[in-house]
Amino acid sequence: MRILPLLALAASVLPTAGAFAQEEAPADRVDFVTQIQPILQDHCVKCHGTKKQEGDLRLDLKQHVFAGEEDLWSIVPGDPDFSPVYERISLDADDPDIMPEDGDKLPDEQIALIRRWIEQGANWPDSADEAILAAEKRRMEREIITLPEISDAQNATIEQALAKVRETNALAMRIAANTQAIEVNFSLLGTKIGDAELETLNGTEPALVWLDLARTGVTDAGLAQLAKLSHLRRLDLSNTGIGDAGLKHLAGLAELEYLNLYGTKVSDAGLAALHGMERLSKLYLWQTAVTDQGAAKLAEQLPGLRIDRGQDAEAMLRGDDPEPVAEGTAPINTECPVSGKPIDPNAFSIYEGQRVAFCCNNCKAKFDADPKPFLAKLGIEVAKAPINTTCPVSGKPIDPAATSEYQGNLVAFCCNNCKAKFDADPKPFLAKLGIEVAKAPINATCPVSGKPIDPAATSEYQGNLVAFCCNNCKAKFDADPAKFADKLAGK
Ligand code: HEC
Repeated sequence: MRILPLLALAASVLPTAGAFAQEEAPADRVDFVTQIQPILQDHCVKCHGTKKQEGDLRLDLKQHVFAGEEDLWSIVPGDPDFSPVYERISLDADDPDIMPEDGDKLPDEQIALIRRWIEQGANWPDSADEAILAAEKRRMEREIITLPEISDAQNATIEQALAKVRETNALAMRIAANTQAIEVNFSLLGTKIGDAELETLNGTEPALVWLDLARTGVTDAGLAQLAKLSHLRRLDLSNTGIGDAGLKHLAGLAELEYLNLYGTKVSDAGLAALHGMERLSKLYLWQTAVTDQGAAKLAEQLPGLRIDRGQDAEAMLRGDDPEPVAEGTAPINTECPVSGKPIDPNAFSIYEGQRVAFCCNNCKAKFDADPKPFLAKLGIEVAKAPINTTCPVSGKPIDPAATSEYQGNLVAFCCNNCKAKFDADPKPFLAKLGIEVAKAPINATCPVSGKPIDPAATSEYQGNLVAFCCNNCKAKFDADPAKFADKLAGK
């Protein structure tokens, strides 16, 4: 199976006509997006997706599932009993071939659902793949932003500046939970924002990576304020009054990757300012005075650049033109986490600093009332619940903020002192947690898979307790322990 780089894929997948159309499904019809895809995503894709392709199998995208010779498809539409996917999930729980390979057998309802979906023709809409690709692309964009270290003093200055930015009612937030990189979006405020408001950005330079000024009242002179934003990756100036004189101020933004000049007065002369932007990979020039020649000249200068001049109407459908969603920062999702339908960018919530969009305000209300059930769909890790309610050290009620991971479980304490005692030597407290202490396993990683052990999956071997990551590995080991003796001895 050939694995294409994901970003290349994202750009090459064209929506088929009506890909976003919503069909009214009869009640008994299994819906792929809301009922099947979440199962595959949660239980299969980590081993059968972009990161790993165990057994040369991918279950993340239609184009991989239904590729190559039909006889070899792992899902045979209409025929669950000839579909390896169904076969593997419906084996006995202790069968070494059962999938998922690591965790528990899927619940019976999910297995039955997959069976019904395959019987009904295994419909896998193209829009489902597009949503996955778009979300993955965004996630990658967020992951690859690395900034020089930001000092405490700089951080304080950034926070002060952001407070001023927010006074203008602009959105200002981290682009992702695990980064200091910040985005500021003035586009919702229209012409209420002018050059004066750009001054609030002073001090954000070390962290500001995305700036959206679409439809604001900024002028060429105001863009001088942006010259210092040396870490800027994305800049949206679409539908503003700026022109060639303003672009001159941007010439030094060496890290700029995305620039939107749609609906501005920019002409060929102004593009000269972009010649040194070697990282620039996407430039929007719809409805500008730029000519074919001017665009061609720039393209020659910057071979990695994709210029979009508006001929490519499908770019809009693909969602990679930001204009249709320009009502604010791009949401982190393309699919409603509640219904699974395509999002309406106007129905959104900010969840932990990130914009989450919904298909409608009803779904938004459901999410706002209790986001937890929907976080997995957004790729946001749901915090594990602690396995205990009283502190194993003091016996007092737990404080959910004081926790440690212990053999794959989350253990909570009443306070950080107790946590520290437990971390230093967990053994004396394990009985309180209902974790058997009789015999400690002699190994910390599974001798079959090399993964961390699960203390519940153990076997006696030559008088010692050996632990595994899961019962499948235990079964493999029990069948032929000698095969794993070297690994067990740490060789
Ligand atoms: C922890 C990793 C892991 C997870 C999770 C996992 N698999 Fe697998 N899968 C494997 C490995 C390793 C193989 C190859 C060895 C084998 O065939 O048992 C495999 C093989 C398969 C095969 C056979 C491929 C072939 O054509 O030979 C199918 C079908 C399959 N998995 C389906 C699934 C399904 C469906 C899920 C989710 C319900 C799933 N797997 C989850 C690791 C995993």
